[in-house]
Amino acid sequence: MARILITSAIPYINGVKHLGNLVGSQLPSDVYARYCRARGHEVMFICATDEHGTPAELAAEKAGQPVREYCDEMHKVQADLACGFRLSFDHFGRSSSQRNHGLTQHFAGRLTDKNLIREVVEKQIYSIQDSRFLPDRYIKGTCPECGYENARGDQCENCTRQLDPVDLINPRSAQSGATELEIRETRHLHLRQSALRQELEDWIDSKTDWPILTTSIARKWLRDGDGLQDRGITRDLDWGIPVRRGDTEWPGMEDKVFYVWFDAPIAYIAATAEWADAHGLGDNAWERWWRTDRGAEDVRYVQFMGKDNVPFHTLSFPATIIGSGEPWKLVDFIKSFNFLNYEGGQFSTSLGRGVFMDDALALLPSDTWRWWLMKHVPETSDSEFTWESFRLDVNKDLADVLGNFVSRVTRFCQSRFDGKVPDGGSQGPEEAAATAALATHLRNYETHMEAIEFRRATAELREIWTLGNSYFQSAEPWTVLREDRDRAGAILRFALNLLPLYAALSEPFIPDAAETIGAVTGDGSRARWPENIETSLNSLQPGQSVSVPALLFSKISEQEQEEMQARFSPP
Ligand code: MF3
Ligand code: ZN
Repeated sequence: MARILITSAIPYINGVKHLGNLVGSQLPSDVYARYCRARGHEVMFICATDEHGTPAELAAEKAGQPVREYCDEMHKVQADLACGFRLSFDHFGRSSSQRNHGLTQHFAGRLTDKNLIREVVEKQIYSIQDSRFLPDRYIKGTCPECGYENARGDQCENCTRQLDPVDLINPRSAQSGATELEIRETRHLHLRQSALRQELEDWIDSKTDWPILTTSIARKWLRDGDGLQDRGITRDLDWGIPVRRGDTEWPGMEDKVFYVWFDAPIAYIAATAEWADAHGLGDNAWERWWRTDRGAEDVRYVQFMGKDNVPFHTLSFPATIIGSGEPWKLVDFIKSFNFLNYEGGQFSTSLGRGVFMDDALALLPSDTWRWWLMKHVPETSDSEFTWESFRLDVNKDLADVLGNFVSRVTRFCQSRFDGKVPDGGSQGPEEAAATAALATHLRNYETHMEAIEFRRATAELREIWTLGNSYFQSAEPWTVLREDRDRAGAILRFALNLLPLYAALSEPFIPDAAETIGAVTGDGSRARWPENIETSLNSLQPGQSVSVPALLFSKISEQEQEEMQARFSPP
């Protein structure tokens, strides 16, 4: 048994996330956390909302709410949706928590002591009409690269170039539209990441087992130098974590807060501390996950995120951790993902394009989305959601293969064997062959899950479901029954024993259906992982009762597909 710390990139607070966001970190991290728990590991699974920065302030203003109130409400909305999708976080925290204030200020203090923070006079855009600075997304203008007129101060959405607000042509305030702007000098803190270049490079080089997607992005940033330029970690904003070093005020920084990308990853640690607080536990309860001097040296720490987040997790956050000179836990494995597209284009929050988590749950059970998304998780390249593909996979994999098997076997048991696991009869070569095949697929499935390769894992799981169906189909217990009731009983008993096996193996991907399947022959508590396939396929007691569950998965008709497609048609 190992101890595994799992974090998902923390979603921005500004609104409900779309399925592309979901499959880019929260959902795969949940599947992995469930798998690790099923294998008997001690798991700490953490997520939170990312509440600072200009996106939060602008969204609150658009909603006509004070930003704190907006964040309180949206945190609740996102937490409820996480429940709806069965995301099994041990804690879903908030980057605005007091814990995160304290830890972020603590890290700033340590980095200052280590001479890794310096004060820099910067030129920033100031709006005379609004009497304020306009950082990042508070400013819009024409992209100097591609001429797009609505480029934001931090990045052009059209050509994806990273920008500095002062680069924009014809700049204006995103908030008020004011164009009476001037460049003013303001003092900011920079983290001297460049001083840590060698250490970071050596650390990345030592990660030979990381996915190429992760290391190639990290190396590109190290090589081009962009990612390792000293970067501003403060902003002229009201909402955020006040700039202090530990408990000490920072003269000249009174009106500033830390930059959102400085405090967001620290929220992984803070949310674990929030978890301890919520359970009335002391500091040692969370420190044993995060401090290598308090027991975390044997923790395996795995992070999940979209590829756009990789530079922050391979370079910036490690720079904070390493730079502190304290024994904090560094990540052991970074699983990153490409993007999921929507019907020939991109999902877009600002344009409302695609399917969002709330719409999805209102339409169909979360297991159907979980299965499709994980089967098509953009692991090795971008992938695309289409309604057609969604309908076909739900109908084939979930309804025809898995659902059909559960329903046939339980109905046959009810109508011919009085709803009881049959006794007597002996197993033959068919069962031996099926067992051997299952053992092979199970080994492959475990291997892929250990390696966090979900596409391959879903293919093996589907194969395991298919095996049950074809075994039952070719063994034909309904025909055998006419001549040899004992043998028919043995076939059915073998098939029934597949149900708790399927419940256990399917649980990481489709937890609700797994619970239903587990309840057919059990007490509804989580089915046990088949550590030994032979034993597990003989685990049901003859005579024990078997129930017929309600329909596991309804099929989606072509007409329903068209209706959903029209309703969510790209603008
Ligand atoms: N909110 C960011 C995003 O959605 C992710 C932040 S991850 C963390 O892209 F490292 F900052 F926590
Ligand atoms: Zn551009």
